[in-house]
Amino acid sequence: MKLCHVLANWKMHKTGAEALDFVRSLKEALSEMSTTRNQSVGLAVPFTMISSCHKEAQQSFSVGAQNMHDAQEGAFTGEISAAMLMDAHADFVILGHSERRHIFGESDEFIESKLKRALSSTSINIVFCVGETLEEKQAGQTKDVLERQLQAIQAVSAKDQYRLMIAYEPVWAVGTGKVASPEDISQAHQTITDILRSDAFTEDAIKILYGGSVTAKNVASIVALDKVSGVLVGGASLDSAGFIDLVKAAFTA
Ligand code: PGA
Repeated sequence: MKLCHVLANWKMHKTGAEALDFVRSLKEALSEMSTTRNQSVGLAVPFTMISSCHKEAQQSFSVGAQNMHDAQEGAFTGEISAAMLMDAHADFVILGHSERRHIFGESDEFIESKLKRALSSTSINIVFCVGETLEEKQAGQTKDVLERQLQAIQAVSAKDQYRLMIAYEPVWAVGTGKVASPEDISQAHQTITDILRSDAFTEDAIKILYGGSVTAKNVASIVALDKVSGVLVGGASLDSAGFIDLVKAAFTA
């Protein structure tokens, strides 16, 4: 059966109390849905809420972080380490989100170093984001960009392959209301699949999400595409009722 992972990325939104309200609603809604082992939900929440959301979720879905530093520890004011995420009971971490790459200037090398740290110093899953800008798309460079960003994946050993999910998030589709076309998504997911295969990923370990303006209305047609193993959702994950509708639409697609 096809995989369907629905991950929320709250970015810099919500207070602790709002987060817990959301978690309670989602937990209740999931307990009323009949889900299969191939379907799962995860929330990437602000650092301060990981521990409380994890506790409140009671394993009914996973709770993760939106970022992590590559150093083990040290003088990095404002940063968070792999050990700290483990301590807060994070189940996964997002690395290489386009907002980290483009607003905070994170390079491919830095993100690769974070990936290595997450693999060596944690046991959690990793959502590794890739995607081209509008200029790169218009210049026909999508494949080159994906190949460049995914060079980091060569560091992943056979036993760690299962901890990784790739999220294809074209930068021009993130937060813009412009969802990529089925053709764009299928083509990029095929390119990513080919890259992972050439890095000796086994077929079951290849999991590729799509992200960028996913909503409750368009999610069913996206998750139905071949090679799409789920979605990463920003704006449409902030309201609990709307996100629950989105999860239902994805799981019944
Ligand atoms: P969006 O964000 O759904 O608001 O486009 C997606 C993301 O940033 O992961």
